[in-house]
Amino acid sequence: MDLYEYQARELFAKYDVPVLDGIVASTPDEAAQAAEELLRNGELVVVKAQVKTGGRGKAGGVKLACSVDEAREKANEILGMDIKGHTVGKVLIAAGADITEEYYFSVLLDRSERRYLAMCSKEGGMEIEKLAVERPEALAKVPVDPQIGIDQAKAEEIVAEAGFGGELGAKIVPVIQKLWDVYTGEDATLVEVNPLVQTGSGEIIALDGKVTVDDNARFRQEGHCALVDKATENPLEAKAKALGLNYVKLDGGQVGIIGNGAGLVMSTLDVVAYAGEQYGVGPANFLDIGGGANATVMSNGLDVILNDDDVRSVFVNVFGGITACDEVANGIVKALEILGDEAKKPIVVRLDGNNVERGREILAQANHPLVTVVETMDGAAAKAAELAAK
Ligand SMILES: Nc1ncnc2c1ncn2[C@@H]1O[C@H](COP(=O)(O)OP(=O)(O)OP(=O)(O)O)[C@@H](O)[C@H]1O
Ligand SMILES: [Mg+2]
Repeated sequence: MDLYEYQARELFAKYDVPVLDGIVASTPDEAAQAAEELLRNGELVVVKAQVKTGGRGKAGGVKLACSVDEAREKANEILGMDIKGHTVGKVLIAAGADITEEYYFSVLLDRSERRYLAMCSKEGGMEIEKLAVERPEALAKVPVDPQIGIDQAKAEEIVAEAGFGGELGAKIVPVIQKLWDVYTGEDATLVEVNPLVQTGSGEIIALDGKVTVDDNARFRQEGHCALVDKATENPLEAKAKALGLNYVKLDGGQVGIIGNGAGLVMSTLDVVAYAGEQYGVGPANFLDIGGGANATVMSNGLDVILNDDDVRSVFVNVFGGITACDEVANGIVKALEILGDEAKKPIVVRLDGNNVERGREILAQANHPLVTVVETMDGAAAKAAELAAK
């Protein structure tokens, strides 16, 4: 999960990374109130769009304000703005910094190298992407051994590689170590600060923050639940998550997919994409009901998928191993009973493996008008695609 800047800033503060005061606002009046508070200790505030994408400054989403009225005006301009497809619902009113220099620091998970990678530059700010392409030598890239992490020696290596000398480098080292504490303490896969600035009085401050946390660590990061932005969450994904289902909504598809086991579901997506080509239809989601799924899990899965407005047909593809086909068949029948008249979409079922005969019998007995049983995976995919195209 990507965090908003204001959430990253809160995490930074928790780990003693130096940040400036900031207050989140959702309306121009709230922004004005926040500015009033911050302007008691300074001459300048910055109104910053809170969206989970980069390039906010260039898009006009970061604006300075010197008075309460100006802050209200800028917030009014920025709230509701569209930045790369993200609508601005909140702004951060941040205390203004007296910037003398802007630097760059990030640490991220380098999956291909099975380790972490730290990046650092003396030339931070809004042009970092351009810098990385045009003058890669100005962006130090230092591998980080996961067994050791960023200790003092590693932090010193990073700042030296980036070309920071003596006193300045020595001031940045502890900040980088604290950012590493954020990275490990919060199970992050990215911590990026751009810009990391030096102020007129020589302080090093993180003025912006991008943090991505690993959702797989949620079981030991209970605080991360509170960071989820319910307003922008896909409601079906949220429902599926609450039901303990592995569900991912896919854009542009019309065939709902349910299978057992991630491998089978992945190959089901492939066969449906292939079969759907001639009709211009494709898979609408990934849903793995897992091994050993019972009737309830099956009916929960169907409930989620049938409630997706994009779905025009459903393909249930189950290979019974630990999961018994009769359980799956009972789940389908039960789900259709619960849904009653609400179920209007055709369902193509392919069952094979453990207890398949019994499973097919149950479906035959139920003889539901929406259900078609097809014996092969390719045949079922073709049928589901054809029905979605109707
Ligand atoms: N609190 C602040 N005080 C003074 N200037 C600021 C402050 N925050 C940001 N700025 C200035 O605005 C610029 C852009 O801000 P920021 O880095 O937060 O947004 P961005 O880089 O455009 O967004 P993104 O990181 O999403 O691409 C900074 O490089 C800095 O010069
Ligand atoms: Mg930035």
